Amino acid sequence: MTFKLAVFGNPIEHSLSPLIHQHFASQYGQDITYERILVEHTFAQKADEFFSSGGFGCNITVPCKLNALDYATELTPRAKIAQAVNTLKFTGFVNQKPQFLGDNTDGAGFFQDLKRLNCPLKGSNILILGAGGATRGILPNLMDYRTKVKSITVANRTTAKIRKIFENLQEQVDTGAFLELKASNYESLEPDMHFDVIINATSLSMNNELPKIPPELYSHAQFVYDLYYTKDGSTIFTNKARSLNVEHCYDGLGMLVGQAAQSYELWTGVLPDTENTINYIRSVLQQQ
Ligand code: ATR
Repeated sequence: MTFKLAVFGNPIEHSLSPLIHQHFASQYGQDITYERILVEHTFAQKADEFFSSGGFGCNITVPCKLNALDYATELTPRAKIAQAVNTLKFTGFVNQKPQFLGDNTDGAGFFQDLKRLNCPLKGSNILILGAGGATRGILPNLMDYRTKVKSITVANRTTAKIRKIFENLQEQVDTGAFLELKASNYESLEPDMHFDVIINATSLSMNNELPKIPPELYSHAQFVYDLYYTKDGSTIFTNKARSLNVEHCYDGLGMLVGQAAQSYELWTGVLPDTENTINYIRSVLQQQ
């Protein structure tokens, strides 16, 4: 069977998804086609065209994730929590109407990458910087009682945004009785605080800017992760952490490949190992 796949978004020409999925397919001897589809007007119309011409599954990126949420006829639990869909799969017909399962693989992809990197999670104190869509996406896995995290502090310019996210997720995620959730602004982060893991989920690295946190916080951390990725794997944030002797510093390329791996599993039943593909994509980026 050939899986006919695609990624929808705008802009879309620089999407790495076709390369990532072709690399997975070649590793597992599977046959896929994977195209980039630019959505200039309505997502639903483009998706109808794709699925009526044999499309089996697709990824959806900015700005179409809410359109894909509406398009899905059924949602996975994690898509319901995220209230955004980045993966669709055709599941058959009911009363002659095509059915589509909508999923959100961003959080699971991030979590898969933390596990690949042996991020210390059990019993750890985690600091997340930023409270946008990226933070909403990565929180459910970290908050789940099975992850055994001790505390999660989210810092943002406005704490109201954080409280809203916490309230919403606490209704949907089984956090267990002991997880401490804290909302903070940047000014309230004190140099003597200890976080084992610091995750930068702001958009600051994109503009080569650093979050305003005390440098001591880096020095105390064992593991630092920036959701932003670069050609060589270092961002302004990971460079800062490395200069303050944090041993384990990573950019977000592994999360990008991780979310793709989770989509690939939804379509084909195979969860790819991401290590080879991350190395391959890094080498492609370095040649660009
Ligand atoms: P997304 O929703 O896709 O994650 P976003 O809405 O642009 O992206 O938000 C990214 C995060 O970066 C937000 O938490 C934002 O902080 P606010 O909620 O206070 O807006 C954060 N961010 C962006 N620019 C920032 C800056 N100059 N200083 C601190 N945080 C910043």
